[in-house]
Amino acid sequence: MKDLTPKQIVAELDRYIVGQTNAKKSVAIALRNRWRRQQVGSEMRDEIVPNNIILIGTTGVGKTEIARRLANLANAPFIKVEASKFTEVGYVGRDVESIIRDLMDIAVSKVQNEKEKEVADKAEERANERILDILFPLNGSGAEKTEDTERIERRKRTREKLRKKLLTGEFEKKMVEVSVTSENVPFMQVFGPIGMEEMGINLQEIFGSAIPKRQRRRRTTVAEAREILTIEEASKLIDHEEMVREAKERVENSGIVFLDEIDKIVGTTAGAGPDISREGVQRDILPIVEGSNVVTKYGVVRTDHILFISAGAFHSSKPSDMIPELQGRFPIRVELNSLSSDDFVKILTHPENALIKQYQALLDTEGVKLKFTRGAIRQIAETATEVNEATENIGARRLHTIMTTLLEDILFETSGEGEKAITITKEDVMDKLDDIVKDQDLSRYIL
Ligand SMILES: Nc1ncnc2c1ncn2[C@@H]1O[C@H](COP(=O)(O)OP(=O)(O)OP(=O)(O)O)[C@@H](O)[C@H]1O
Ligand SMILES: [Mg+2]
Repeated sequence: MKDLTPKQIVAELDRYIVGQTNAKKSVAIALRNRWRRQQVGSEMRDEIVPNNIILIGTTGVGKTEIARRLANLANAPFIKVEASKFTEVGYVGRDVESIIRDLMDIAVSKVQNEKEKEVADKAEERANERILDILFPLNGSGAEKTEDTERIERRKRTREKLRKKLLTGEFEKKMVEVSVTSENVPFMQVFGPIGMEEMGINLQEIFGSAIPKRQRRRRTTVAEAREILTIEEASKLIDHEEMVREAKERVENSGIVFLDEIDKIVGTTAGAGPDISREGVQRDILPIVEGSNVVTKYGVVRTDHILFISAGAFHSSKPSDMIPELQGRFPIRVELNSLSSDDFVKILTHPENALIKQYQALLDTEGVKLKFTRGAIRQIAETATEVNEATENIGARRLHTIMTTLLEDILFETSGEGEKAITITKEDVMDKLDDIVKDQDLSRYIL
């Protein structure tokens, strides 16, 4: 894990998310605590359970955005799932244990990636040797014995020269035939009875070594052959058991599960219908949050120390409507503030992926320099607030709809002919949007 201090984590999040300081702080502490726990003596380490978090806030205030950015920051296995996607065991749909199996898959491919990078140079070197062998096959070794040492020396020198040419890229376009091992023979994909796949059991993997791997011969350029062979050589160089062991270790000790839309599985009405299974899903989630063993195709994974961050709008329900056991497992509750006009101004301009920057970049490709006056930006922000208040509060998402409406003509007219500068002023914004904002019915549809 990159060892960021909580302050550094908040600072990183600040680059993309405006405000929401409390939420940022909580996730930063939680993240750092994972690292801290790793430093604690082994007896105590097992006792320290993660402080799972619930982020509460209306729609469009940055809950998912925080999780998304955190994922990039925490160099830890991370998965984001919608709680509403899951169904009780026994019903059609995904069961909650698949979260952990997916997380394990993510971790394995991540570790594999890293290991591949580590051995990349060596793998490529070996790939190049194999290409050399294909391009300029040496005579059978039996013949060499009878040859005099001088001829052998000469051949070595030739090979050396050819190797140089190969490395300087002289043969890149040349066609060669390579044999590739296809690991996943598509028609061997067996779908066992329902549940087999869910259990993560893949027959191919069980019998993997028993089924002879298929060798295919393929004609391709040297350049592509190198890529294929490098991957193959890398796979030979990596210790797969060690890779899985490390992935498992990371999942168990620093894995993070982001459960979005948690409020959707918290029913308020005691009526019939889907509500019944909602509580069921909560009960199913409980063991993995509390700590249990999940069987994956890579072996058993313990979930005791996985960090769970959940988020929800909790419009029609409250965290206290969750089943008590689950409430206790999410001791940290953070409320995200609803966004003000001032926040909107910052969201429009400040983050590295700010909307205005995005549109500027888009139009810049066609030679248009798009500018906004301060007044224009403030006007956009205030319009967003106004519409959010008058119709439905969809938070910062409102800015997207307003910006597309505002810029529609420019985006349509621009055709990439010649350089141009366009400055949008407060008046432009008012001209374009005021009629729509005033007409509530219209703004319901457009903005
Ligand atoms: N505080 C913020 N700073 C910067 N951008 C934000 C902020 N809040 C929301 N946004 C932007 O608004 C959009 C929606 O935000 P996000 O997906 O985080 O909403 P959410 O809180 O998860 O809502 P929902 O409850 O509907 O899932 C994103 O594109 C995000 O960039
Ligand atoms: Mg969301």
